[in-house]
Formats: sequence, C-alpha cells, structure tokens
Amino acid sequence: MSHTIRRLQTNTTHLAGFAKKPIEATSNTHPAGERSSGYHSNMIALSRPSGFALCLLVLLLCFNVTQALEESARPGVNRQYEDPNWQQWVNTFERSGREVYDKRRAIVAASAVQPGMAVADIGAGTGLFTRLFADAVTPTGTVYAVDISETFIENILRSSREQGLANIQGIVNTPRDTGLPAGSIDLVFITATYHHFEYPMSMLNSIHRALRSGGRLIIIDFRRDPRVSSNWVMGHVRGNKALVIEEVQAAGFRLVDDKPLLRTNYFLLFEKAPLTMKHSESP
Ligand SMILES: C[S@@+](CC[C@H](N)C(=O)[O-])C[C@H]1O[C@@H](n2cnc3c(N)ncnc32)[C@H](O)[C@@H]1O
Repeated sequence: MSHTIRRLQTNTTHLAGFAKKPIEATSNTHPAGERSSGYHSNMIALSRPSGFALCLLVLLLCFNVTQALEESARPGVNRQYEDPNWQQWVNTFERSGREVYDKRRAIVAASAVQPGMAVADIGAGTGLFTRLFADAVTPTGTVYAVDISETFIENILRSSREQGLANIQGIVNTPRDTGLPAGSIDLVFITATYHHFEYPMSMLNSIHRALRSGGRLIIIDFRRDPRVSSNWVMGHVRGNKALVIEEVQAAGFRLVDDKPLLRTNYFLLFEKAPLTMKHSESP
C-alpha cells in the first residue's frame, strides 16, 4: 500500500488544479513520516506572523499532531486492496443486486452535481461513480479519483481514456491524507468507503481542508443495525450511522440532509462549517 501521494492524469500535460507542480509533486514530510501537500510549509514560512496567522499556525499544528497520533481504527481492513485484481473488483462493485450500483443514477441525481464543478470521489474503487460524475460535471468540470490503490487509479484512468472522458485526474493517496489541494473541491463523495478509513479523523481533517468554503460532503455507507443488517455487515462495518454523524460533525461539518433514498445504505449530506479550536482538538 502506498505511503506517498501520487497524482496521475488521463492526458500528459500539466494538472489543472495542481498548477505548476510536477505529477509526483509532494515533498513535505508529516511527523508520521508521510508526505503531504505544500499547504503546511507555506504557513510556516511566514516571517512576522499576525495574530490571525498565528492562530492558523496553531490550528495546523493541532491537525498534524492529531493525524500523527491517531491509531488505526480497523487494522487490516484494506488488505484485500493491496494487490487487487481489477476485473474481479469490477465484477464485484459494478453488478446488479448491489444497491449503490442499481441506484447509481438516482444517487448521482441526488448529489446535485453541476457542470463545471470539482468533485472528488474518495475511495473510487473501479470508478463506478467517478465516470458518472465526469459526465455530469461536463468537460468544464473535473473529477478527482482518489484511492490508496495504485492499481485502481491506473485502471480508472485507462478505462476513462478509452471512453473519451478527459476530465478525470487520479490521486493515489495515503490512508491519512486525500492528497487534494486545499480549498479546491466543491463536492467530496464517499461511497462504501468510510468504513474502510483506518484513520477517519485524519481523513476528515484532510477532506475539510480540501473543500471550498460551503463545500459539500456526501457519505453513503452500509446501515449497521442488528435488526436489518447481515452478519457480514455487522462484522465488517465499524460503526453505525449515528457514530459516523458524530465523527463527521466533530471534524467541522454540519449535517444538512439524511436522504431516504436507499434501503441497506444511508445517504448523508454534510456542509463544511467554519473550523474552531474545539474541532481541531477532537480525537
Ligand atoms: C468497498 S470499496 C468502494 C469502492 C467504490 N467507492 C464503490 O462504491 O464502488 C472501498 C475503497 O476504498 C479505498 N480506500 C480505503 N481507505 C482509503 C483512504 N483512506 N483513502 C482513499 N481510499 C481508500 C479502497 O482501496 C477501496 O478501493
């Protein structure tokens, strides 16, 4: 599994949204030994910081410490994606009978994606939603396929190229960091992946940074309820909807909607809220 962030794209010119940075454009080291975007070093470079800059600096240091200290919530949960067989996972994720596949068009419609938007599909897998969003944002928008599996990202880019979709960029991220530039994204979309986050608070902090002011976050995941869930879901999924809402709100998001669109999954819509010290100190 990758521990450095790699940015890939369908065409060979520079990356829109990653202006003037090379494809493997990360050079700063987190306390945890992982690499991050240039966001933090830019802040530290201030020579005579104002009160506002000092506050920001303290917030950023809190984020870094939180990220470095967070322990895996679910060790080994992504082992099956370390060397994935692409076709096997296409057959698994893109098959009739899987609720999010059967309802994929209704899910995209409910996501209210508009032409020109920047959308990040985090935990993109085989790109089921990446491709649908790429169509919805039209060539004026961009979809970032983000996944810790390099095999998935390379194959998403290859298959998108073959389908003539040129507005998809790939990011092979680390388990704690989306690798997305700060303030660049209108909508972060996460389906069947929140329960795969080993470091949920670090990922949520990174998502919060990546979203523009007022940006939205959609989380679709399995309901975990002993009255309706299978034994497999009860054993595989870490937390129920209430726990997910609690964690996401603690990271600086406001719950906007809980859409009754799905039966075995929930569909939560959040909005980025302004950060406070309380949020940055959350465990
Ligand atoms: C069950 S699959 C879901 C794929 C896709 N979203 C779908 O619904 O078809 C979970 C995906 O999340 C990815 N993943 C796990 N942790 C991640 C993280 N921290 N950041 C990005 N991707 C992650 C895995 O590699 C895998 O592709």
